[in-house]
Amino acid sequence: MISMNDNTTLYRADILHFSRSTHTPKKDVCFFRDGALVVREKKIVDIGSFKELLENHPEATLVDYSGKLIIPGLIDSHLHFPQTEMIAKYGSQLLDWLENYTFPTEQKFSNPEYSRDIAQKFLSQLINNGTTTAFVYPSVHKASVDALFTCASDMEMAMVTGKVCMDRHCPDYLQDTPTTAQKDSQVLIDKWHENGRNRYALTPRFAPTSSEAQLAALGELAQQYPSVFIQTHLSENHGEIEWVKQLFPNHESYLDVYDNFHMVHSKSLFGHCLHLHEHEWERLRETGATAVFCPTSNLFLGSGLFCIDKANQYGVNIALATDVGAGTSFNMLKTFGEAYKIGQLQNTKISVLEGLYMMTQGPATYYGLENDIGNLNPGSYADFVVLNPHFDELSKLRCPKSISIDSAEDILFALSFIGDDRAVQATYIAGTNVKKSIKEQQYAMA
Ligand code: GUN
Ligand code: ZN
Repeated sequence: MISMNDNTTLYRADILHFSRSTHTPKKDVCFFRDGALVVREKKIVDIGSFKELLENHPEATLVDYSGKLIIPGLIDSHLHFPQTEMIAKYGSQLLDWLENYTFPTEQKFSNPEYSRDIAQKFLSQLINNGTTTAFVYPSVHKASVDALFTCASDMEMAMVTGKVCMDRHCPDYLQDTPTTAQKDSQVLIDKWHENGRNRYALTPRFAPTSSEAQLAALGELAQQYPSVFIQTHLSENHGEIEWVKQLFPNHESYLDVYDNFHMVHSKSLFGHCLHLHEHEWERLRETGATAVFCPTSNLFLGSGLFCIDKANQYGVNIALATDVGAGTSFNMLKTFGEAYKIGQLQNTKISVLEGLYMMTQGPATYYGLENDIGNLNPGSYADFVVLNPHFDELSKLRCPKSISIDSAEDILFALSFIGDDRAVQATYIAGTNVKKSIKEQQYAMA
């Protein structure tokens, strides 16, 4: 268990965040040059200029990050923890990749000890890269869910996950049934949902691996537990989309399959959304569901180009995500970098402030979590990241020394291409520098 910090601490740094929801992140960004963040008992109690806050909080212990940039803890809206060990496997597109690499790997997670070991390593990756909240797919095994929630709870991380459900079109060793999927999901909801900072997400993997009976059973739970999230995949790959058409001939579209089973609402996260029909975009907007843009995965599996213009045109919520292990990096800024390139291919400019919004206040607001995460407002948890824009020779050469609102934007943009976990000097969760704690634990064990 990592020790808690219950005193008042004042962090001095340049600070950037979005204090509220906005459609114009560039206009509404809040920037404090030589700012301060005051933290007490796991939460933020004040934010403002260093000079003013030093006067207002004389009791606070000073932690000086002058010359560094504090941003909110990052939210990764879609990734798979059992796929950590199979990141960057050569050569196939979605359906073959699932069969050849993913399913055999996920089999290992029936073992609780193995699940705990990989959960720990997975969380280290998130924290090293500044991610403090994640929407995670485990495996079909209850043990994998328990392992991830337990490890996340140890550092009071706001974790969202839920048992993957699949009762067909995958190897026997990974199949559940409509009844066991419903029963196990319900047991796990009762155990973990809103227990500490944890939240549950019903997780049918994707329409092809769930029968109508299973989707109906999970739809019942969705209605019974309206505050529980739903996460699944939607319209990623042309072969997958054709398959869904064949499997569900009576449904108007891929999204309609989920809709029919009460799974499309404001707590629903749909991974990919690459090849949607107009009425599917319209329905996403109408329900307040979120389209999750996974650029590195979409390029890696050759799935297609997310059309950010279309999502914006329809007013659909967009969140960014790594989708590890089809995604090739745990780093959310690098993920934005690839999103930017996908925009370039379609003649759409995505600013880094839009990108930052899609990994902080944007998803926090879409998911109804903005009082806890996604920003640095007083009352929110002290989940934040300290970026060091000058971590190596190249970044020292490229990134301006003095941070202003314009240079902060330039620095974040540069770090999206030349940065990595070395630019993340510290990751705080509920007021504790967990990046430091993990390093110390790893050092002690070595
Ligand atoms: N569709 C169904 N399962 C998966 C998965 O594990 N990764 C990706 N990228 N797409 C999927
Ligand atoms: Zn995925």
